[in-house]
Amino acid sequence: MIALEPKLKKRPEFIKVRVRRQDGPGKDAYWELHQIKYEPELNVIGVLQRIAAQAKTSDGKKVAPVAWDCGCLEEVCGSCTMVINGRVRQSCSALVDRLLAENSDELVLEPMSKFPVVRDLQVDRERLFRNLTRVKAWVPVDSYYNMGAGERVSREDQEQNYPLSQCMSCGCCLDACPQFAKIELERQEGESDEAFQARKDAEFDTAFVGPHAISQAMLFNNHPTGKSLADDRLDALTGPGGIQSCGNAQNCVSVCPKEIPLTTSIARTGRATTVYTIKKWFQK
Ligand code: SF4
Ligand code: SF4
Ligand code: FES
Repeated sequence: MIALEPKLKKRPEFIKVRVRRQDGPGKDAYWELHQIKYEPELNVIGVLQRIAAQAKTSDGKKVAPVAWDCGCLEEVCGSCTMVINGRVRQSCSALVDRLLAENSDELVLEPMSKFPVVRDLQVDRERLFRNLTRVKAWVPVDSYYNMGAGERVSREDQEQNYPLSQCMSCGCCLDACPQFAKIELERQEGESDEAFQARKDAEFDTAFVGPHAISQAMLFNNHPTGKSLADDRLDALTGPGGIQSCGNAQNCVSVCPKEIPLTTSIARTGRATTVYTIKKWFQK
């Protein structure tokens, strides 16, 4: 089915852009209004580039350019994720004409809400990647020599795995999840890099792991080589911050830009962890 694009009734001369800024980690946030000339078919990254080139607010005050992250510019790397007009999404694929047609006469840009702000629209998504290591979201290999062909993957498994493999670790699902609370720690006086990292990891490892890591665990548990670590993944998902922390609100699935069936992965995890727990109980 072809989605009908909402059409702009009238092209404006200028676009107002309200940006939530923050000068550094732990600093107070503040709002700033910018204005750029309207151009057709701009995306939000284009808007930010024009704001950076102007480096002044709508009332002419000189300011430092707004900071943001991006990489691929084609909704593959996930690094440009931010909250745009109240919805978490990728700024490279968010089209201004569509946003203006859907909404009002201005764009509102905010950093993601569940990760510490580095500066302006840049956030530190370290926890998201830590959560992938918690569930060993990889296929284990013993070395880099040629080990020959891997096991064949059945068509049924390919069909189940392919949608999950499209995850780009953007974090939209985590930002929308009511069970995934923000963790932001400050370095203590005299604390070494190693001690600070260890304290952060300890916090991350007991908080809710979130739907993206749960879904990746299901992807690798259904892979012929990846499944050799299946028990380790299920151990992590039955431990603190595991599947039992999911409240099944289903916000995650509704914001995923790749339309990954996260609630199906959560249901599969629920069944797999129940079987695993019973199996372990009988092995005692
Ligand atoms: S279903 Fe679970 S993971 Fe998804 S938003 Fe709800 S609580 Fe979060
Ligand atoms: S599951 Fe979807 S929303 Fe969540 S990190 Fe992956 S691509 Fe982003
Ligand atoms: S820049 Fe990579 S997803 Fe937007």
